[in-house]
Amino acid sequence: MTEVKATNVHWHEGNLTRDERWNALGCKGCTLWFTGLSASGKSTVASALEQVLVQQGVNAYRMDGDNIRMGLNKNLGFSAEDRAENIRRIGEVAKLFADNGSIAITSFISPYKSDRDMCRQLHEEAGIAFFEVFADTPIEECEKRDPKGLYKKARAGEIKGFTGIDDPYEAPENAELVLKCAEKSIDDCVAECVELLKAKGIVE
Ligand code: ADX
Repeated sequence: MTEVKATNVHWHEGNLTRDERWNALGCKGCTLWFTGLSASGKSTVASALEQVLVQQGVNAYRMDGDNIRMGLNKNLGFSAEDRAENIRRIGEVAKLFADNGSIAITSFISPYKSDRDMCRQLHEEAGIAFFEVFADTPIEECEKRDPKGLYKKARAGEIKGFTGIDDPYEAPENAELVLKCAEKSIDDCVAECVELLKAKGIVE
């Protein structure tokens, strides 16, 4: 659990409601939370989805694990505790983007169910839609792809605590969408995400 150190702070309500903001700006926010092993295809699909949505005039914004770890979360490693803090911060940031009317697309391994559930709860408490998208690619396929050579390093013992090798990945049991990235094309995966957003009334 995150230790709360901020005391004597008070919530300052703005002058407009979320609906007033979304109506005025003609948008609707939500968070699409991609989870899956490294090299499962989640970032590839997330990038393609972001492109398709933005080209249609929908304000979508992608946050990627590797990228965020080069900035906001550069002080975090890969222990269970640091991964939890990584995910907690991104859950909060995604919630802000979604509140602002964006489709926040996050692409993090997010291996622990409890961390993902915490992000879902954060969104539910704020009344913002949260959809979990599981990039369900078998570890054998991820390891075969190994675009960054990290599985090879992990097998050689050069990286400790690598997800799927010597660190756990807890697959979602109730994801809103399960993408079979190894069997389908990127375009098909993107189309499934767009269908979900349509079915949930986020985009038309
Ligand atoms: S998470 O587990 O905290 O959600 P995140 O998605 O931010 O992970 O970062 C994963 C990326 O960090 C991987 O795609 C890989 O490039 C890199 N990485 C470096 N070390 C590890 C590790 N021990 N386990 C998994 N990924 C790692």
